[in-house]
Amino acid sequence: MKIILASDHAGLELRQDLAASLRERGVPFEDVGPTSRDSVDYPDFARKVARAVAAGEYTHGVLVCGTGIGMSIVANKHAGVRAALCTTEFEARMARAHNDANVLCVGQRVVGAGVARGILEVFLATPFEGGRHERRVQMIRDVESER
Ligand code: RB5
Repeated sequence: MKIILASDHAGLELRQDLAASLRERGVPFEDVGPTSRDSVDYPDFARKVARAVAAGEYTHGVLVCGTGIGMSIVANKHAGVRAALCTTEFEARMARAHNDANVLCVGQRVVGAGVARGILEVFLATPFEGGRHERRVQMIRDVESER
């Protein structure tokens, strides 16, 4: 498992808290910023993570912005990336089990740090179920190749 994290300024504190939670659990990760609270553009950071995941350099990406919405929109423009915006552990579990999501998006202005920690933990711990879901994930790939 290789994890890459990024945020924009509006997701900075939550990203840092999620990084701390991984550190506490001894889970290795790469954090690609930003490091200050200066305003940045979320598409830049979503692109960084999405490209790395699409290239197979990382198995899981984590993106945090104010709502998680902008990050998920940008990440999902990348072929091979299945980004899921989650506000509950249930969504995180389903995103992995049914959709084989490889990027988790969360909103710092939407969920608290405790909830987000739980979401991340479930996202990383849940395997893809495969089976009937594999065919549907393949259909997502087919849509990507129609572009
Ligand atoms: C930044 O103010 C905010 O627009 C951004 O973090 C995000 O919520 C966009 O989707």
